[in-house]
Amino acid sequence: PEDIRVYEFAEACGKSASEVISVLFGLGMMVTKNDFLKQDELEILGEEFEIEVTVKDALEDANYIEEYHEEDIDDSNFETRPPVVTIMGHVDHGKTSLLDKIRESKVAAGEAGGITQHISSYTVEKNGEKITFVDTPGHAAFSAMRARGASVTDVVIIVIAADDGVKPQTEEVISHAKASGCPIIVAVNKIDKEAANIDMVKSQMAERDMTPVDWGGDIEFIGVSAKTGAGIDDLLENILLQSEILELKADPTAKAKATVVESLLEKGRGPVATIIVENGTLRVGDNIVCDTTYGRVKAITNDMGKPVKELGLSETGSVLGLSDVPAAGAIMVAQDSDKEAKDIATKRAEHERAKELSKSTKVSLEEMSGLI
Ligand code: GTP
Ligand code: MG
Repeated sequence: PEDIRVYEFAEACGKSASEVISVLFGLGMMVTKNDFLKQDELEILGEEFEIEVTVKDALEDANYIEEYHEEDIDDSNFETRPPVVTIMGHVDHGKTSLLDKIRESKVAAGEAGGITQHISSYTVEKNGEKITFVDTPGHAAFSAMRARGASVTDVVIIVIAADDGVKPQTEEVISHAKASGCPIIVAVNKIDKEAANIDMVKSQMAERDMTPVDWGGDIEFIGVSAKTGAGIDDLLENILLQSEILELKADPTAKAKATVVESLLEKGRGPVATIIVENGTLRVGDNIVCDTTYGRVKAITNDMGKPVKELGLSETGSVLGLSDVPAAGAIMVAQDSDKEAKDIATKRAEHERAKELSKSTKVSLEEMSGLI
């Protein structure tokens, strides 16, 4: 709710900025007229001036552009879109290997120390049906990435090695998965191993309120092996079944809206953003804005590194052309003109700078008052 400044608030309720400042000052709150008011300050002012203060969600302001586009969505253009499936689990339980088996690739073998350190995403086509997978790191150090993975997804797959069972990051993943509200599938991996014990995994999970369907609960457990390929067709079928139930729909004719899952500055190529398209179609040449950065899509590469002209619903790829590296989790939205994209990005950047500035003035005032 930090989106109204002291002088704006004063104007809105017909007071002078100094009246507002002195009320807060009287309560030991140091503000200047350009500061943004916090929720508690607004509440106090509301009481003092006997006016009703409704505090808007701060996100509302940040998202106004996306909302604008959502109003534009025409239901009649809705099409079924592929599911976005995030794979999570404890380190070394075989997430990347499972994806390698599904994609017939060898990503896991090329990873430093055999450990995934970034989120990556792939769009796979199996029997004419597309699925976008998001691979996340299992190492304890990458907790924030798992939370992020859970937020872009329609279905969560929790991978648990059948010879190792529930481990600390499995526990963490269970809570992310539950918090996401998405349907969950448990893939019990490494069933080719002699020490594999699916029932042990099931009972550990049942203890954590994740009871298997065949034990009277509602979570599908599927035994798989990334080594032999056993159970993988079953897993894919289950994913498609879950996504059918979700009735995922979006408008391919709308202006593109996508989520950034990873981003980096690549030597010689500039800012690269890996995205998943939520709505619309993203094309080379589109004017885009992404948080406080903007640009024109110069090139798109798919998850195989091949150049493509566009990305459709739920598809993933990497986008070149932004002026700066966006934060992972940022929303990318196509705009009608480069001017529009630039204006929005600039306005957001100014807003952010003002917030930062107001924070630092406040700190120094508080420091000063401590000295007096
Ligand atoms: P992080 O991304 O670091 O969390 O690991 P991960 O979950 O992606 O595991 P990864 O796919 O890198 O596999 C870890 C090790 O387990 C590798 O040595 C794989 O070869 C092995 N492995 C994965 N799946 C299987 C399986 O089904 N059977 C057997 N026998 N080994 C497997
Ligand atoms: Mg991995």
